[in-house]
Amino acid sequence: MRRAIYPGSFDPVTNGHLDIIARGCKLFDEIIVAIAVNSDKLPLFTAFERREILLEALAEIDAGECRLIVEDFEGLLTKYAVERDVHAIVRGIRAISDYEYELQMALMNRRIEPKLETVFMMPAEAYSYVSSRLVKEVYRLGASVTGLVPRAVERRLKEKFERSHDGKPQSHAK
Ligand code: PNS
Repeated sequence: MRRAIYPGSFDPVTNGHLDIIARGCKLFDEIIVAIAVNSDKLPLFTAFERREILLEALAEIDAGECRLIVEDFEGLLTKYAVERDVHAIVRGIRAISDYEYELQMALMNRRIEPKLETVFMMPAEAYSYVSSRLVKEVYRLGASVTGLVPRAVERRLKEKFERSHDGKPQSHAK
């Protein structure tokens, strides 16, 4: 039984993330999609909201025989991965610009936990420029994000930005 962890902020999940998960399903029997709740980044969606969105979005992808689990975690990824008896960390690399950051994290994670391997996967070219940060930015400024994110995200973005009158979300998530 090969179990991987796919960690990230998922604030919010994009079709690029879902593409990586679907590809990961060809390699692993089980993937834990792990939402980091103590990231330095100030999230738009709460961990609870990100989890709900992920669950809805994952129900729509073709995972084959692969079991998908959504969890959140605090603290060191390596510690959490060992506790969950994971064999590999999956991360997506869209472009060469991602590589340096990902390499640093992979090597640091390996230093902390040498038995954990990081597996880098490339999303479809169509998603090579898609990031959660840009999705939030262009949506907030009025552009469509259809095709870049699952429907659940479009709906949640609409709700989030409609709640305030100035186009900004009312508060930042904790
Ligand atoms: O989607 P992101 O924001 O690029 O994901 C980054 C994430 C959550 C994978 C990374 O920040 C992380 O692993 N955080 C957990 C804390 C940790 O272990 N930090 C050391 C990483 S070498």
